[in-house]
Amino acid sequence: MFTIVKLDATNSTNSYLKEWAKKADVSHGTVVLAKHQESGRGQLGAKWLSDNGKNLTFSILYKFSNLQITDQFYLNCAVSLAIYDALLPIIGKSLTVKWPNDIMSDDKKIGGILIENAVKNGYISQSVIGIGLNVNQIIFSDELPDATSLAIITQKTFDLDSVLDTILQSLEKKLKLLELGQFADLNSAYQNTLYRRNIFSKFNEKNNTFLGKIIGVTIQGKLQIQLESNELREFSLKEVQFIF
Ligand code: BTN
Repeated sequence: MFTIVKLDATNSTNSYLKEWAKKADVSHGTVVLAKHQESGRGQLGAKWLSDNGKNLTFSILYKFSNLQITDQFYLNCAVSLAIYDALLPIIGKSLTVKWPNDIMSDDKKIGGILIENAVKNGYISQSVIGIGLNVNQIIFSDELPDATSLAIITQKTFDLDSVLDTILQSLEKKLKLLELGQFADLNSAYQNTLYRRNIFSKFNEKNNTFLGKIIGVTIQGKLQIQLESNELREFSLKEVQFIF
């Protein structure tokens, strides 16, 4: 179901696909992959840095017929789980998803997801699902002290096309579950992959440090943390950071 368009370079595959979809009726399942992004974008306005030709940076245009904006969280679950399932046989048990959707191997980040939705009348009409996965890059700049890659973890070099194919197959399965409305299954599988769930960790909230453990993520996408006092609190993305 996916049609892959390969580019040598673009600013950002998410931006490229969004601009294209503004001008033309881009088919459902179009994948834009770039060897190099001049200004790859991450969550919360961050940059996504990736060495030319070594990693996967791609975006998928996905059209939905019946996905309410209030169910956006399950789209996040579906995409995170698709990458998780695709990488589990390669990486093994060190793999987790750090809320909301950083793909982690132990305490290092191997991939990230940036989903941008077009909304009409309360429904997500289409999404640009952007995925960055560090595959064959061995050296990361000082700007990325917490980055890792498949090659670092496994000491092997990977064929980018075959990793892409594995991820797309996994995405197709999870997005099918989403379209069938299997939200409970997606939700529970996502909660089970969460990074540092039920482990006391240090967090930062507005320059205030506190200890707590992640209990789960609400269906509104908020992180639930239980404090040492047993008080349960919920945080949205901008409100809390892990401290390592
Ligand atoms: C994050 O972890 O902050 C999200 C990173 C998402 C990066 C990918 S790379 C392909 C696509 N194009 C972009 O500009 N960003 C996403």
